[in-house]
Amino acid sequence: MIIKCQKCILRKWKPSDLQNLIKHANNPRIASNMRDGFPYPYTIEKGKEWLEFNNNQYNQNSPQNFAITLDDTAIGGIGLMVGEDIERISAETGYWLGEEYWGRGIISSALRCILDYGFNTLNLERIFAKPLENNMASRKVLEKNGFVLEGILRKSAIKSGNICNQALYAKIRE
Ligand SMILES: CC(C)(COP(=O)(O)OP(=O)(O)OC[C@H]1O[C@@H](n2cnc3c(N)ncnc32)[C@H](O)[C@@H]1OP(=O)(O)O)[C@@H](O)C(=O)NCCC(=O)NCCS
Repeated sequence: MIIKCQKCILRKWKPSDLQNLIKHANNPRIASNMRDGFPYPYTIEKGKEWLEFNNNQYNQNSPQNFAITLDDTAIGGIGLMVGEDIERISAETGYWLGEEYWGRGIISSALRCILDYGFNTLNLERIFAKPLENNMASRKVLEKNGFVLEGILRKSAIKSGNICNQALYAKIRE
């Protein structure tokens, strides 16, 4: 499955992405804003685990995690984590981009496509994100793409030993 965006292409992760995944993901400036499941250092074992996890997911469901690619080279990732039970109409989005590609609007372009995919293919009603409160780049990306700040989740996360607030942003189906 391929989603053509204005500035990049989203496609399924594949085993041959390993080298580029490690190259771009192994960055403390990225890991410090992600969940601990996205570690620094980002090891080869971690990369293999991620690619294998997605390979298994792809066999079962509609894909929910995509590689962000330029010329078929993986330079980042974006996905949706769909809720369960009564929250199955909501999904949390998460994304990251290799640092050398920051500042080009690539993530906004990918996010617009994921919103379209989430609302129109997965039939979701709500897509939300919870950046750490001080992650201004991610907050700006969400605001630029029509997400509304619903509140600050006080002391909701612990990152690198520090207790942090998260900013809850959401966009609902128009
Ligand atoms: C979040 C991330 C994908 C954004 O990528 P990007 O290419 O920098 O995004 P864009 O350039 O489209 O937009 C970022 C915006 O934030 C602004 N910005 C960046 N750092 C900022 C800061 N410290 N304070 C205020 N604004 C900031 C940029 O100027 C830009 O605004 P503009 O479009 O008005 O110029 C990238 O920074 C990243 O991978 N970060 C690490 C992982 C992460 O945080 N993931 C999200 C977890 S919720």
